[in-house]
Amino acid sequence: MASGAAASRAFSNLLVSALFAAVVVAGFQFEVGEERGWREPTGKEPETYNEWAAKNRFRIGDTVYFKYQKDSVLVVSSDDYLACNTSNPISKFEDGSTVFQFDRSGLFYFISGEPGHCRSGQRLIIRVMHPSEVEAPELAPSPASGGGSGGDGGLPNDNSTAKPSGVSYFVTALAGVFVVLALFMQEP
Ligand SMILES: *[C@@H]1O[C@H](CO)[C@@H](O)[C@H](O)[C@H]1NC(C)=O
Repeated sequence: MASGAAASRAFSNLLVSALFAAVVVAGFQFEVGEERGWREPTGKEPETYNEWAAKNRFRIGDTVYFKYQKDSVLVVSSDDYLACNTSNPISKFEDGSTVFQFDRSGLFYFISGEPGHCRSGQRLIIRVMHPSEVEAPELAPSPASGGGSGGDGGLPNDNSTAKPSGVSYFVTALAGVFVVLALFMQEP
């Protein structure tokens, strides 16, 4: 009985599972609409959902959190997004608290399923960066660096766009798992 080898294989599988878990954990969660949540715009909002999305950088594994009441989140095609057509959603969520994870790069289209809400502006396009873009150095200057006297008065400062360095965390975790894996695989 080569039970040692079997145990070794089982342990390797466990480590590989841990690796995949690390990939999922590394994602960053964005809150759609921030305090306001996901609701029909009144027209008095400081920015649209798409203006908010344009300020952020979304990566594969990141999530968007929709908080809403008496409303819904539909993932739709680009055509249905443009037409505000709620009749053929790819996915539909209506539990009031939806976390959606990006499993690929490219464009994702979200609209409200409530009549009229999409046309009022309750819709959102998110572009998830291709991994090759993620590896490139950050192009946008960091607003946090450089002090700034923090002049209050005007619009609230947008601290919500600050992101932890999920990628470097992920690479570190990845390296750690492979080191352990390599050590363990050395059969006597
Ligand atoms: C929505 O899409 C369906 C199927 O593509 C179509 O039959 C329907 O007419 C559309 N509705 C509107 C309001 O455009």
